Amino acid sequence: MTNSPAGRSRAAAPARRETFSSRKLFILSAIGSAVGLGNIWRFPYIAYENGGGAFLIPYLVALLCAGIPLLFLDYSIGHRFRGSAPLSYRRLHRAAEPIGWWQVLICFVIAIYYAAIIAWAAMYTWFSVTKAWGDDAEGFFFGDFLQTADTAGVSFDFVSKIFFPMLAVWIVVIVIMVAGVNKGISRANAVFLPLLVVMFVVLVVQSLFLDGAMVGLNAFFTPDWTALQNPSVWAAAFGHIFFSLSVAFGIMVTYSSYLKRKTDLTGSGLVVAFANSGFELLAGIGVFAALGFMSVASGVAVDEVASGGIGLAFVAFPTIVSEAPFGAVLGVLFFGSLVFAGLTSLVSILEVIVAAFQDKLGWSRKGATLVVTIPIAVISLILFPTTTGIQLLDTSDAFVNQFGILACALVAIIVISAGLGSLPRLQKHLNVTSTLKVGTVWRILVGGVVPVVLGYLLINELQSKSSEQYSDYPAWFNGVFGWGMAGALIVGALLLSLIPWSEKSKLKDPEYEAFNAAAHAEGDVDNNLKEVNS
Ligand code: ALA
Repeated sequence: MTNSPAGRSRAAAPARRETFSSRKLFILSAIGSAVGLGNIWRFPYIAYENGGGAFLIPYLVALLCAGIPLLFLDYSIGHRFRGSAPLSYRRLHRAAEPIGWWQVLICFVIAIYYAAIIAWAAMYTWFSVTKAWGDDAEGFFFGDFLQTADTAGVSFDFVSKIFFPMLAVWIVVIVIMVAGVNKGISRANAVFLPLLVVMFVVLVVQSLFLDGAMVGLNAFFTPDWTALQNPSVWAAAFGHIFFSLSVAFGIMVTYSSYLKRKTDLTGSGLVVAFANSGFELLAGIGVFAALGFMSVASGVAVDEVASGGIGLAFVAFPTIVSEAPFGAVLGVLFFGSLVFAGLTSLVSILEVIVAAFQDKLGWSRKGATLVVTIPIAVISLILFPTTTGIQLLDTSDAFVNQFGILACALVAIIVISAGLGSLPRLQKHLNVTSTLKVGTVWRILVGGVVPVVLGYLLINELQSKSSEQYSDYPAWFNGVFGWGMAGALIVGALLLSLIPWSEKSKLKDPEYEAFNAAAHAEGDVDNNLKEVNS
């Protein structure tokens, strides 16, 4: 229910869908969503593990051929059908609703571990001041701080140093989300994003002045061509681009549903995509320059200077903080940036889930936010601030991210293009409202190139993940939290789509019908209007 006086006097009228008050705020929020842990924590270690500099090639190919075209696709769906992921897909076609729920569930898994990394970063911002890790950053991170168990599993041995910061993270994001799209999400992004940019630019400049920075940059920008023959490197690049751009798991569908009708979608998309990749490359430059410093200081090659994996940022950076001039400043900037970047992305990930339930069950903003986010926070707080949290995080990230997002993207594209033949009308919708028109190339990329590439990559991922134990974790562990979780999301999505739309849901929304009619008048087509209203 709207809080405006007009809303109160028309008590029975359904709540209006919120919109971003300006395109600038939407772009800011979309960049805030895209620029996240993926850029600063994930990209450097994924690049490091997948051929260093060689990774830039699959990365750029994935960005141009899949990331940006799919970003436009997400915008066209969210903006045209004006709903959360399940509602938008349902309005596209009744049978497509499970795709939206699949995306919601992917967000659920990401959200529960994402908060843990933000909490680690918050603690490391403080640790940078005191250099709490002493001479052994790796031992400190896995031992003293995370208190990692020897074998992967599920322990309920809580680590209070992680529990309380995680609790604080959850409280902050829930407060932001309860306030809604304009008063919460837009405002948080308007404050955090500029702060993040300034901190990050200062950080990168400082890294570039470290001794050995060029050695690190050479390692980053020198392609290892043999890595390009490995399909896993390409799968990592595509999986990463989707995660980093926030495409194919509901975020951009949801955010674009809050846009006003006449909005330049493709222009906004390009700004978001290039801002995100620019930031990511900056992060790569900053981290590799710092790794170069470590390499020269310790006389070890850049690719051996730190253990890879999810600990890279939390092991390599602290070592640099200890040894570099003005190291504490570098540490505060780096980990503080991670916190701000993470918060704005976590908000967008949760918005996918909140909006989905708000639309389907007709709940108020505040009600939906509290009913949805508090249980998610509780699950996250039970599983991750424990001695087995990092292994759980590693497996969930590898399977749901690298595998689940690709699989969901592939199914969505096949349904939209081959199944429903919807690309021409989505193309038309993009072109009605945007300055940069998309043409046949976009349709060929989305409907032809991307599904072929994704299909190939998925088969390879399936083979490689089933032929060797991921990260040497016990088979049951990867079975339950990797394969099991990825499969459970599909079953869960089907079940959620079977729940009937409530009487108060947004499915038959007069506001949408008005929007639809206006779009129609401008030549936008919606073949399913009758079905939606039936
Ligand atoms: N796009 C977000 C990130 O990069 C999810 O972390």
